[in-house]
Amino acid sequence: MLETSAILQTADSIKGYSLHLQEYAQHGGYGEVEASLNLSVDEELLNTVRTVWAEKNTKNIKYIIDIGIGGSNLGTKAVYDAVYGYFDLLETERTPKMIFADTNDPEFITKLAQFIEKVDATAENFLINIISKSGGTTETIANFEIIRDAFEKRFGSIKERLIVTTDEGSKLHIMAQEQGITSLTIPKLVGGRYSILSVVGLFPLLAAGIDIEQLRKGAQDMRRMCIDLNVETNPAILSAAILYMHAKQGKNINDNFFFEPELESAGKWYRQLMGESIGKEHDINGNVVFNGITPTVSIGSTDLHSMGQLYLGGPKDKITTFITAVHHENESIVPATQMFPLVENIAGKTTSEIMHAIAEGTKAAYQQQKQPYMELVFEKINAYELGQFLQFKMIEMMYLGKLMQVNPFDQPHVELYKVVTKQILKEE
Ligand code: PA5
Repeated sequence: MLETSAILQTADSIKGYSLHLQEYAQHGGYGEVEASLNLSVDEELLNTVRTVWAEKNTKNIKYIIDIGIGGSNLGTKAVYDAVYGYFDLLETERTPKMIFADTNDPEFITKLAQFIEKVDATAENFLINIISKSGGTTETIANFEIIRDAFEKRFGSIKERLIVTTDEGSKLHIMAQEQGITSLTIPKLVGGRYSILSVVGLFPLLAAGIDIEQLRKGAQDMRRMCIDLNVETNPAILSAAILYMHAKQGKNINDNFFFEPELESAGKWYRQLMGESIGKEHDINGNVVFNGITPTVSIGSTDLHSMGQLYLGGPKDKITTFITAVHHENESIVPATQMFPLVENIAGKTTSEIMHAIAEGTKAAYQQQKQPYMELVFEKINAYELGQFLQFKMIEMMYLGKLMQVNPFDQPHVELYKVVTKQILKEE
């Protein structure tokens, strides 16, 4: 169990960095590695996204195909799934639906191409967004060409229905411009995993009907708190200090335990954020450190029935973050247990009450087993609070990088596999 005073002391040791973030937020712009910090207050960015959407909105879009991988789609999927995507199967009539094409899954991409060729739809029902910061990611370009081919066989030129999101001056950007294709650009220093509040996330989310102004408002409010110099009330610096101190004690797995299944994709977004930002061979001084905290995602209560034994009885190598929500838009009540009156005390209870009891029971068990945890509570899962969550975690990661003395903004080993992949494809 960590002492509060020790946590505050650790947080205090990087207070100078809060000051730096605060000054940078006041100064604005995208000139520093923490560029993502200023996205939520960029009005020009909002106007650009709105303008492009007005041009592309046929008022009858049913399918948004989001082609991108890693930082180019995980944030969008996190928000979309939390608000709509998790329920897509049950809400068949609601449109538009967002379809994510990330990896080169032969089965999925083939079925997607067949879907485009056969579905009862017109070209105006589609919006296709290819997103690649570098502009040259193998999976993204390969998937795009398959989707383009399917679309063009059926509807003719894809250009009208296409938006390219990439870095200014990337080869993809240049080619899009040459062919008169609408493009949106990402500030150079905003890395993929920090790009959700840039055009990468804002454009497709706006098209999907998500309130991006509330998303930004949530991020703005959280930014203010997370760059505050008072460490006692700064959630990002405190959370980073707690993660760091546990990692130093050998608890270098951070399990993010979501008791709201629609947040699973938010967990996967966070996995990338932490994995790529903190998992580093070298520290900022060039020493070999092989640093890292392994982020995992668990879903409550589902994973209590699969992983609970390990979490409670297994090695004490984890710090857990429980994520819950207080209020829900919809609620069911368990009726009288008539057919199978086998479980007591559930009749008349709401699903929230049952989930709450399970979450509380889980926390009590963690306490009993002396397994450390933090808690993150949504009042309600909506665009505003998702904006808060995303901004909180991105700033937390900047502080964590500072504490662990690694660069949280690069990803040299992701580049490594990309180069080798291209080489193998050349030789095949
Ligand atoms: O964070 C990263 O840099 C990566 O995960 C990238 O987002 C991912 O590899 C996709 O790259 P790109 O957006 O250049 O296609």
